[in-house]
Amino acid sequence: MQTPHTEVAAVLDAHRETPGAMLPILHAIQDRLGHIPADAVPLIADALNVSRAEVHGVITYYDHFRQQPAARHVVQVCRAEACQARGADALVGHVRQSLGCDFHGTSADGKVTLEPVYCLGHCAVGPNIAIDDKSYARVSTARFDALLQACGGER
Ligand code: FES
Repeated sequence: MQTPHTEVAAVLDAHRETPGAMLPILHAIQDRLGHIPADAVPLIADALNVSRAEVHGVITYYDHFRQQPAARHVVQVCRAEACQARGADALVGHVRQSLGCDFHGTSADGKVTLEPVYCLGHCAVGPNIAIDDKSYARVSTARFDALLQACGGER
C-alpha cells in the first residue's frame, strides 16, 4: 500500500523534468491524497529548488488546494459575479450559519467541508452550489437545507 510519503515521492518523480511543475505537482498530490499534507511542502520545495515559503504561498493562493483532508461531503458555493448578482451572498450567510463554519472549514460534526468555487458554468440560473461535485441551480436557503439533508450532511 502506498503511504502519503510514497505518493508524494511518485508525483515528484513523474514531474522531475516538467518545466513549471509546481501547479501540476500540487494538483497531482491533491488528486491522489485529497489534500496537500504539510510534510509534502519541504519535499516539493527540495524537488523544485524553491523555498518552502514559496510552495506554501502557492498552496494558499489558490482556493482549490486543501491543506486538510476534506470531510465526507464537500459543499461548494459559487462566489463568482453572476451568482452574487442572483443572491448568493444571502445564501452564503445561511450556509455558513447552518454548517457552523466558514469557507475552507468543516462543520463541527466533521461531516461537511465548505469551499468557495468560482463559476460552475450555470451562471444564468444561480445561485449555484455543488455538493460532492454534483451541481444544483437556483438554490434558495430552503433548497439548500433539503439538499444537505438528502446527502446525509443535515444539521
Ligand atoms: S457565476 Fe456562478 S455559476 Fe457562473
